[in-house]
Amino acid sequence: MTYEILFSPTGGTMKTANLLTKEFSADVRVVDLMDRTADFSAIPLTQEDLCIVAVPSFGGRVPAPAVKRLSRMKGNGARAILMAVYGNRAIDDTLLELKDVLTQAGFRPVAALEAVAQHSIMPQFGPGRPDNQDHRELMDFAKQIKEKLSCETSEDLTVPGHFPYRAYNGIPMKPKADHGCIRCGHCARHCPVGAIPQDAPNHTNTKICISCMACTAFCPQRARKVSPLVLIPAGLAMRKSCKGRKPNQLYL
Ligand SMILES: Cc1cc2nc3c(=O)[nH]c(=O)nc-3n(C[C@H](O)[C@H](O)[C@H](O)COP(=O)(O)O)c2cc1C
Repeated sequence: MTYEILFSPTGGTMKTANLLTKEFSADVRVVDLMDRTADFSAIPLTQEDLCIVAVPSFGGRVPAPAVKRLSRMKGNGARAILMAVYGNRAIDDTLLELKDVLTQAGFRPVAALEAVAQHSIMPQFGPGRPDNQDHRELMDFAKQIKEKLSCETSEDLTVPGHFPYRAYNGIPMKPKADHGCIRCGHCARHCPVGAIPQDAPNHTNTKICISCMACTAFCPQRARKVSPLVLIPAGLAMRKSCKGRKPNQLYL
């Protein structure tokens, strides 16, 4: 069985992962790490399974709720293709952390890649990605991974990153509801950490919020936003580190 195990608050990670996953199988079981109610320990993986595990890079790390939920899974020797999706700055220690978490949970990492998707807070970085060029590159990566899988080598996978991982304690950009909020509660249902009360969806618990932007993506009224007073200077400060077209990379 082929599994696609995803943490994708605004859909960029999913879109990018889908381009790779479709090269492996048309019959894919999706595990949604955004679901804060699911019992991830109950997913019956075996060593015959192939899992494409895709997370966005947040501050150069794996988002904390994804770490927690992946740690509960039982890999049972399932092969894992690791994907760190990033917004045209850098992934820093994301792949190393993902490899460590999955190994600890009993998965067998066999390949890893980093790929760019449009930045979910600052869409001026990596605009329109993944695009046609990314699609072609991901198809080529899939071909190379399949070749490696057919050889069944047992070499340890080397990925970029350092331990201790880069410190990341969140960012001061918390989306809030404006007067357009009709309290439909879509945002509260989709929030991966329960930072939006179901009975008062125009509020945000900023202590719990991880700034993942799922609420902004799911709001049908487009009523949830990060204040431009914070967003604009942050975008200017990141211009240099996010400039140019950053590459996708494969590690075998
Ligand atoms: C809180 C937060 C932190 C982020 N940190 C980084 C980062 O360190 N490097 C980077 O290149 N992109 C960073 N990004 C951009 C995301 O990794 C990128 O947009 C990703 O595609 C988002 O995935 P999604 O569309 O599935 O939500 C960050 C985005 C968010 C919301």
